[in-house]
Amino acid sequence: MNTSVLSVRDELSFGQFMELALYGDDGYYTRAVSIGGKGSDFYTAAQSPLFAQALANALTEQWDAWGQPTELQVVEYGGGQGELAAVLGPALVRLCSGTITYTLVDRSRRLQTFQANAVHDEDTRLHYHFGEPRTDVPTCVVANEVLDALPVERVRRVGDSWQQAYVKLDSQGHYQWMWQSADASIASLADQFLPIPDGTIGEVCPGLARFFARLTAGGPPVFALLIDYGIDREEWASGIRPQGTLRGYYQHQVTDVLDHVGAQDITADVNWDHVRNAAESAGFQFRFLESQGTYLMSHGIADACQTRLTALASSGLESVKQRLGWSGQLKQLVMPGGMGERFQVFGCEWNVT
Ligand SMILES: C[S@@+](CC[C@H](N)C(=O)[O-])C[C@H]1O[C@@H](n2cnc3c(N)ncnc32)[C@H](O)[C@@H]1O
Repeated sequence: MNTSVLSVRDELSFGQFMELALYGDDGYYTRAVSIGGKGSDFYTAAQSPLFAQALANALTEQWDAWGQPTELQVVEYGGGQGELAAVLGPALVRLCSGTITYTLVDRSRRLQTFQANAVHDEDTRLHYHFGEPRTDVPTCVVANEVLDALPVERVRRVGDSWQQAYVKLDSQGHYQWMWQSADASIASLADQFLPIPDGTIGEVCPGLARFFARLTAGGPPVFALLIDYGIDREEWASGIRPQGTLRGYYQHQVTDVLDHVGAQDITADVNWDHVRNAAESAGFQFRFLESQGTYLMSHGIADACQTRLTALASSGLESVKQRLGWSGQLKQLVMPGGMGERFQVFGCEWNVT
């Protein structure tokens, strides 16, 4: 256990604790994060080039709908280790004429370094850029598994009121839960978006409003695709998650969020009703919320897989392992037993004429 995240005297709301445990000086995304591959903590769709190709098809559709502007910006929030950016950028250049600025925005310095090593301006029409997005060109925002990494507050319904979870260290140096009356702003979010049964626990994400407000800084239109695991009002109301959705990931195991502090990821399911409300409050128009499987299938992921299999066969280097690799990725991304239904794609637009 890493106790340096929280000093003995501190008593922090869970949201403050999660902020430090993920993004503080000793936090997971600052020091330890490892995604995909050997020794990692979790996999994401970004490790699959098929996912990137389907997103390239989707963004090209949007570029067409905007009348094929000569400049397009993609802003990827939370680009992780840069795998998606490294495939999506070149795929877009092949599909769209004009220039592409691919901007990567991330809270984690460690991951920014990985991203810088993963991407290259291979084509004169493709420019990777780090930091503040441009505000003068039509922009497509992509964020895969970013909303689930925003700090959440943990709350419990007690009759008509709410309690909020705090974390503190006991005298033996173990992290402990404490429950207090919820802050008014947290209780208000819970009243609006968390119809859970009495006595059960859930989470609210106060950072959503700020996240969407950031996406609308410029004049030209913005189209945003947010991909994540999430649940809606009916699922919360059903009471099937009496302890909420908060969990840790450490070396591919689901863990208690108070274990391995600073060495593990902490995440919670996205509340899609709250996401939609935050997007609309920031001026976005809601476009769709659909399962990842349906979305990727309707944006050519099966063809992308077939193209890879055909190229493999004609290269003469085809091995069963490689063939199964592509088919396995397709299945994992779209099938209900994989990520196809557990993950959803949320689409919204801003400044549409
Ligand atoms: C679970 S990882 C997903 C990484 C990558 N998108 C993937 O699918 O492999 C979450 C990412 O979001 C980043 N992140 C969290 N909060 C952010 C914020 N407010 N703005 C930008 N990036 C953020 C993290 O640093 C990390 O890169």
